[in-house]
Amino acid sequence: MRRVKQHGHQLTEVARFRLKPAMTATRIDVNLGSRSYPIFVGDQILTKVGELITSAMDATHAVVITDSNVGPLYLEICQRVLEDQGMRVNAVTVPAGETTKSLPYAEQLWNALVDFHADRKTVVVALGGGVVGDLAGFIAATFARGLRLVQIPTSLLAQVDSSVGGKVGINLEKAKNMVGAFHQPSLVVIDVGTLRSLPQREYISGLAEVVKYGVILDAQFFEFLEHNVPAILNVDPAILTSIIARCCRLKADVVEADEREETGYRAILNYGHTFAHAFETLTNYTSLLHGEAVAIGMTCAARLAASRNMFSSDECKRQTDLLRVLGLPTEPPNLSPHDVLACMRHDKKVQHGQLRLILPKRLGQVELVADVDPGEITAVLAPLQTN
Ligand code: GLY
Repeated sequence: MRRVKQHGHQLTEVARFRLKPAMTATRIDVNLGSRSYPIFVGDQILTKVGELITSAMDATHAVVITDSNVGPLYLEICQRVLEDQGMRVNAVTVPAGETTKSLPYAEQLWNALVDFHADRKTVVVALGGGVVGDLAGFIAATFARGLRLVQIPTSLLAQVDSSVGGKVGINLEKAKNMVGAFHQPSLVVIDVGTLRSLPQREYISGLAEVVKYGVILDAQFFEFLEHNVPAILNVDPAILTSIIARCCRLKADVVEADEREETGYRAILNYGHTFAHAFETLTNYTSLLHGEAVAIGMTCAARLAASRNMFSSDECKRQTDLLRVLGLPTEPPNLSPHDVLACMRHDKKVQHGQLRLILPKRLGQVELVADVDPGEITAVLAPLQTN
């Protein structure tokens, strides 16, 4: 694992990468044999995407897929820097929102690629948040049995989670993310500057996944977050570069250990998510953003672990306090605990009808627990009083 040095409250990734002129980025390598790839994180590095692509692969044709929120902000610059490297560039802008992650839009995009004369050497560039990354990734995984993919995530959630690790896919009407593939990108370029154009609520929602990494894998990182709340809330580019690089390194370590979710280890990334998916489903994906639901789900999971004495109430409180000070909700929505429980039973981690949850043992360490009693779950769904 790449070591992280801590200088007071500064968290510095060891690998720095110099981009000319006068621009540095942090490089994280995802080591997956022939599917290995670099992630670059830095401020304003969108202008370097063309150089980064041509130095990583032989690319003469790119198809940029973006959405109606991100396209007006960043498509022109992205297109220009690719063309500056001599590439032929086509672009498609889909409407913003989860409904585009669906078969009708996938079909439109496959047909657009035919119209653009895409071939096996074409590179698909996903420019946007998690929806665009998953949809464009699915197109790259399936068109002509697989094209190279470059992820340029522009939301915090996509930067620390969905753009890394190769999960791509679309939704079915009845089930989210049900049709998809593991298709690793060839390159990920994360420009922290794009976070400044993200609506504040979405930015804060993404912070739930950031806190998650501290709880599941890295107590020192959790402490770093506790000490840097004002800078995080100010979207300070230097702090955000350190934080996102650290999250990507931690996620890369998990993906390297269990790329296709075969050993079960990758499931630790779903800490808080079994509760969260139930909250999102039962509120019809309208009142809670994904990260908000995850923050509440993590609080429920931590309370459940504390109630079994496998997690200290002090550390449980530190998690709740950090989520709250970052502006995240921690109170379960007003839903019937029995409906939540019924919904949680559809989770992919259920085996032989037995609910299995990722629960914290201490900050930086979690465990997959298989003997969770339904009564323990309904108990933590009551409004929070003390922690
Ligand atoms: N977002 C969870 C994973 O990539 O496995």
